[in-house]
Amino acid sequence: MIIEGIVTSLDATGRLNVAPMGPIVHGDFQRLTLRPFQPSTTFNNLMATRCGVFHVTDDVLLIARIISGTLTESVATEPAVTVPGQTLQDCCRVFEFTIQSVDDSEPRSRMEATVVHRLDRRPFSGFNRARHAVLEAAILATRLHLLPAQQVRLHLELLEPAIQKTAGERELQAWQLLLDYIHARQEPSV
Ligand SMILES: Cc1cc2nc3c(=O)[nH]c(=O)nc-3n(C[C@H](O)[C@H](O)[C@H](O)COP(=O)(O)O)c2cc1C
Repeated sequence: MIIEGIVTSLDATGRLNVAPMGPIVHGDFQRLTLRPFQPSTTFNNLMATRCGVFHVTDDVLLIARIISGTLTESVATEPAVTVPGQTLQDCCRVFEFTIQSVDDSEPRSRMEATVVHRLDRRPFSGFNRARHAVLEAAILATRLHLLPAQQVRLHLELLEPAIQKTAGERELQAWQLLLDYIHARQEPSV
């Protein structure tokens, strides 16, 4: 099963990168198959250090801020326990991993990773349709170069009712950030 979350990784100089990623999760998070595209900072960092941290979160505003490029301050982190890395302070679950093997023969690489340490930070708050809609919009926002503008618009229209009916403040804010980001990139061709 693919679980959408956030990967933190460090470059060779120790600089932190925080990126939404959806690894394939094996068993009860014993192993992960990460599939970062080339080129991406996550791909470069994981190739260089062969370790990182995967986070399960229900904070879609953080995901929206990263994708829309509006996260200007640094996120609160603390040192990982077993790998050189940083873990998000505000998340539900933390999985530190090391990478055993890499297949980089395709643009979307495959990295087989073993979870070497796990930590529960706070309970998952529960299913919320607006959060899932934001997640879908965030994924759309990263694929604008692949999708026709009309298809993106239609998809957003289908997601909108879940936002209107079930969003809280943070989800509304996240949705708007993503709409602004998408519209700014599509205006010339619409
Ligand atoms: C929920 C979600 C899941 C994602 N999963 C992946 C993934 O598995 N692989 C990938 O390359 N990009 C994925 N992305 C897109 C990356 O987050 C995006 O390309 C980002 O710019 C990569 O950042 P980086 O260059 O800092 O690594 C995902 C985005 C979202 C919103």
